[in-house]
Amino acid sequence: MSTYRTLDDVDVTGQAVLVRVDLNVPVKGGKVTDVTRIERILPTLRELGSKGAKVIVLLAHFGCPKGKVVQQMSLEPITDALQPMIGRPVEFVATDWYDGRAEDALGHAHAGDILLMENTRFHPGEETNDPSFAAQLARLGDVYINDAFSAAHRAHASTEGVARLIPSAAGRAMQAELEALTSVFDAPARPIFAVVGGAKVSTKIELLRNLVRKVATLTLGGAMANTFLAAQGNPIGKSLAERDMLGTARSVIAASSASGCEIVLPIDAVVAQESDAGAAWSVVPVQAVGAEEMILDIGPDTVTLIGERLAGARTLVWNGPLGAFETTPFDRGTTAIARTVAGLTRTGALRSVAGDGDTVAALKHAGVASDFTFVSTAGGAFLEWFEGKSLPGIEALRAI
Ligand code: 3PG
Repeated sequence: MSTYRTLDDVDVTGQAVLVRVDLNVPVKGGKVTDVTRIERILPTLRELGSKGAKVIVLLAHFGCPKGKVVQQMSLEPITDALQPMIGRPVEFVATDWYDGRAEDALGHAHAGDILLMENTRFHPGEETNDPSFAAQLARLGDVYINDAFSAAHRAHASTEGVARLIPSAAGRAMQAELEALTSVFDAPARPIFAVVGGAKVSTKIELLRNLVRKVATLTLGGAMANTFLAAQGNPIGKSLAERDMLGTARSVIAASSASGCEIVLPIDAVVAQESDAGAAWSVVPVQAVGAEEMILDIGPDTVTLIGERLAGARTLVWNGPLGAFETTPFDRGTTAIARTVAGLTRTGALRSVAGDGDTVAALKHAGVASDFTFVSTAGGAFLEWFEGKSLPGIEALRAI
């Protein structure tokens, strides 16, 4: 597999540079509540500025307007968060992609300007990767830089089509994601340890199948572990689980034995009849979950067990929380494991990579997100990467 081009491989001096960024950020009451994705693109924008790019044209999506202008999904409110962080004025271009405003704005731009174009998904050709929309985007720049790893699993006009039409390369945020994620399976320090949680086995089957072939230990938590516990004949009461996926869980267990991967399942659990904060809870062995109870977190013996296994690990990949971490006290298991991983990472014993929105929220809740070696800003793209799939947005940047 050939490598991909980076900012080192393209000349941006005096050029109009199209930069695909991910501004699909959480917004409440018109205000951006988490600026991580914006922070990550700043190195690329600064570098383009210092290398003398003539104009920077930002392309991004927001939500899923399905090819129509949906005012609530306009990128305009994001401009207010973007501007102070970039430290330069950003001109928002309110185009519907048919009105010629994007082209006009570029025509009137002065050297050093930064333009933020309206949501690319307002055009129906974005998600269908329509060649004529890709060509329209390509006419807005001389060079294309993709700095949106988290949208690289989409073969859209602004992530894939345009990259094949003008000189293109990965931005620094994209490059950092690719280097961190590649390091997990390409010549990693072994043994590799994976933690997978979250609600559903069904959305992570391919991830689990790929991981059991590649890692020494796979720890499962969250509601998905309940499905595995049920598949092994344990009572799970009223726990969230996919009761139609027991066969799939058994096939993952069989695949893990065949490849010598140890699957670590909870041995005890925090259970309650309600999932609200303040509900009466207790800790029971997984063989003793009551008919009216729900498993809401891994128990303390499981935390100890995972901690013991982690002590021997050298590389870790984590996707999905281990319990209902949004509600205390069901956050304790995830927080304890996150802190153990952070501690091992700080000593240099472990290289730790985590990704997806819920996982990042759980690590932030535990106060250790900045102690991991790398925290990806991606959800779906992170998952598809670790499923072993190739991502169209990356393929388009491969050096010929
Ligand atoms: C994300 O938020 O994960 C990316 O921006 C991709 O968004 P999408 O799932 O709507 O394509």
